[in-house]
Amino acid sequence: MKALEAENLHVSVAGRLILKGVDLALEKGKVHALMGPNGSGKSTLAFALAGHPEYPIHQGRILLSGEEITHLPPDQRAKRGLFLAFQYPPEVEGVRLRELMRLACGDQGQGFCDFMERYPQAVRRLHMEDLAERELNVGFSGGEKKRSELLQAWLLRPKVALLDEPDSGVDVDGVRVIADTIRELADSGTAVLVITHYPRVLEYVPPARVFVLEEGRISQEGGPELARAIEKKGFKVVKG
Ligand SMILES: Nc1ncnc2c1ncn2[C@@H]1O[C@H](COP(=O)(O)OP(=O)(O)OP(=O)(O)O)[C@@H](O)[C@H]1O
Ligand SMILES: [Mg+2]
Repeated sequence: MKALEAENLHVSVAGRLILKGVDLALEKGKVHALMGPNGSGKSTLAFALAGHPEYPIHQGRILLSGEEITHLPPDQRAKRGLFLAFQYPPEVEGVRLRELMRLACGDQGQGFCDFMERYPQAVRRLHMEDLAERELNVGFSGGEKKRSELLQAWLLRPKVALLDEPDSGVDVDGVRVIADTIRELADSGTAVLVITHYPRVLEYVPPARVFVLEEGRISQEGGPELARAIEKKGFKVVKG
């Protein structure tokens, strides 16, 4: 059984059909990459999978570990093990990162004592010692926000982690930290989808599959060599 399957997904945004029949399958414990030109709908796909109400699904279905979740609200998807790390993580005043994670882990059945032990581990893992007690993403730099998203995934160990550009705006050492965290997530059984424009992160964690989204559909699929070919030649040339 696949960890996540999207079948024939048709999704609109602001009244315009953006995804026109996306088929995608993610496997437990594997890293997958999703690439594609700006505006091709990668974030739209991530939002639709996570249940964002502004990205309605008109056709097709989504299965999480074989269970249909196409019409479930986002919190129900999250509780079943679907995690989304945003391309542009929102700043949430009044909510501390630590509190959010304590409640989320509690909701998952992780005990308070486990949390007390694992939160500092996660903070060290993601090099976030100075940020651990702060309000969620408030005033965080671009790279710090990306590490904050990965920290959440690391603690929650979701069935499926959709990571929307976890490497964008991240410095060279930070990409290494993020790549190592992605590998640990996959090794613990999470099916990971990394949306990215850069093959560098994929050199550190070679994906089992690379998907390319263009004109509303998955136009190409291959191994890590596809990411390298795109970097060298661009989407059009590789396709031709
Ligand atoms: N909330 C919105 N309102 C209006 N249009 C939107 C909205 N969200 C996305 N779109 C449009 O949908 C299309 C797909 O956008 P999306 O953000 O999914 O692209 P992307 O592949 O993630 O691009 P990038 O690589 O730049 O992140 C774009 O034309 C975008 O302008
Ligand atoms: Mg995007």
